[in-house]
Amino acid sequence: MTLDVLPSFQALMDRAKTCSERHMRNLFVKDPKRFEKYSFQAPHVFFDYSKNRITDETLSLLEQLSREAKLSENIKTLFSGKGEQGELLNNTEERSVLHTALRLPKRSLEKASGPYLPDQAILDEILECRLKMESFVEQAHQGEILGSTGKPIDTLVSVGIGGSFLGPQTVTEALAPMSKKGLSCHYIANVDSTDSFKVLSKVNPETSIFLVQSKSFGTQETLANAKTARKFLLENGISEADLGDHLYAVSSNIKAAVDFGVKEENIFPMWDWVGGRYSLWSAIGLPIAFMIGNENFEALLQGAHDMDQHFISAPFEKNMPTLMGMMGVWYHSFFGADSHAVLPYDEYLSYLPDHLQQLDMESNGKHVSRDGEPLYYHTAPIIWGGTGTNGQHAFHQLLHQGTQLVPCDFIATLDTHHPEGSHHKMLLANCFSQTQALMQGRSQEEAKQELLQKGYDEEKAEFISKHMEHKGNQPSNTLLIEKTLPQSVGALIAAYEHKVFVQGVVWGLNSFDQWGVELGKQLGNKVLKQLEEPGSRADQDSSTLGLIAQYHKFHQE
Ligand code: F6P
Repeated sequence: MTLDVLPSFQALMDRAKTCSERHMRNLFVKDPKRFEKYSFQAPHVFFDYSKNRITDETLSLLEQLSREAKLSENIKTLFSGKGEQGELLNNTEERSVLHTALRLPKRSLEKASGPYLPDQAILDEILECRLKMESFVEQAHQGEILGSTGKPIDTLVSVGIGGSFLGPQTVTEALAPMSKKGLSCHYIANVDSTDSFKVLSKVNPETSIFLVQSKSFGTQETLANAKTARKFLLENGISEADLGDHLYAVSSNIKAAVDFGVKEENIFPMWDWVGGRYSLWSAIGLPIAFMIGNENFEALLQGAHDMDQHFISAPFEKNMPTLMGMMGVWYHSFFGADSHAVLPYDEYLSYLPDHLQQLDMESNGKHVSRDGEPLYYHTAPIIWGGTGTNGQHAFHQLLHQGTQLVPCDFIATLDTHHPEGSHHKMLLANCFSQTQALMQGRSQEEAKQELLQKGYDEEKAEFISKHMEHKGNQPSNTLLIEKTLPQSVGALIAAYEHKVFVQGVVWGLNSFDQWGVELGKQLGNKVLKQLEEPGSRADQDSSTLGLIAQYHKFHQE
């Protein structure tokens, strides 16, 4: 199944042509209840989608499209791990996709009850892992986890990359106000030794543990960083025999972790049915739990679970992830939009665009359908963004007056952890008015009148007003959460996971593999060999050979 063969595809193509001529400004004038109609409270997130190029007719066509793509059947498969015929969502790696089970409340893990749940054996493993995490966190908070010299551990250094890093980093930062005093957490991800240098130069080996986070325990960057961390411990007073007190791991490859020097009891499990970019809810989220404690981690899972329930049960026009997904399809497949901006108006959400970038682009950046057929339409948009108001003084110019259509998500908090004068009101005023400016725009005539009133002569006003015109009609969603609190952050991230899922279903692709990163890994190993061994066989293109030669020349001089 591909999008372009679905019956409503052509109707939506035609509709997009008509809608291009309709300005949102007029839709708001025509219907004073537009906000009421196209906004609602989802679990922990208020969702305003009224500033989109949509009408009831468009929404009903999009709903029809989602039905034709069998969205609800796919949602059932997502939650239960298998389709009715036993089919797996991750069909190329032949795996189930069950990250939603990771955020089930404990009572549901103890006894699977209700529709769309995986087998009890899987729930048992999740519960066991959660209890192990809780016990670790509890002991760490009580100062009962001791380093080899008898001092309590107060620092966790996570060593991982991609999905084993971005989610935890995003959430530890988002929930930093809930961090337990006296504890700290650092991340080493990049194979660039500067990354480890920066972290290692500020941690005390006696009171630190290094948590190697790698589902495969075979990722080159993570293993290189883990070895550097082990060297750091050995060079800083920790003996070979005591290394095990400072090394922990989250992995599905127990043998490799043990061979590396991690004690078996210090390994937390991972499963092949959790994709890296969906893994912050598993033991990969241990740095989060270490920092915010068990109760808050549970609340984070609960927030995500609440969003899961909403996604399963809310009707189309009140289903936040489904609407986010389908409106994305509307812009990317029918208006040719190439990118999507994520604009958090809260410093604590500063890593969110990075996490969502991986989530979306690694999931849906695909060129063939689930059945291997070529796709002749845009799939994942380029996800980018940055925090407000900094972005307004940097890239928002393009959003307002550039020639591309860039749908945006504005994400704001109704309250701040750090009230100070009018700062928060100013922040929100900027956020809300940006969505307004993008939607309304400003006609050349309005700009000209402004200039004439300021005393410009007719000719100058005519000329400058051309540059001041904002065409407007730029779509945005506004997502409001109370504050960066565990439940709201959990719900927010889960909503984006489901948005990506919806789009993957409609575009007919497998959102859960990532073959695209493999080629780079293979070629990277070949180049590394040639960098390490100058005379080694070189069957490369002339550019790659030339670059390798530049490296050797530099190091010979
Ligand atoms: O970048 C590819 C990828 O496989 C991601 O999907 C994954 O999150 C990351 O590498 C790290 O993998 P691992 O957890 O196995 O080290």
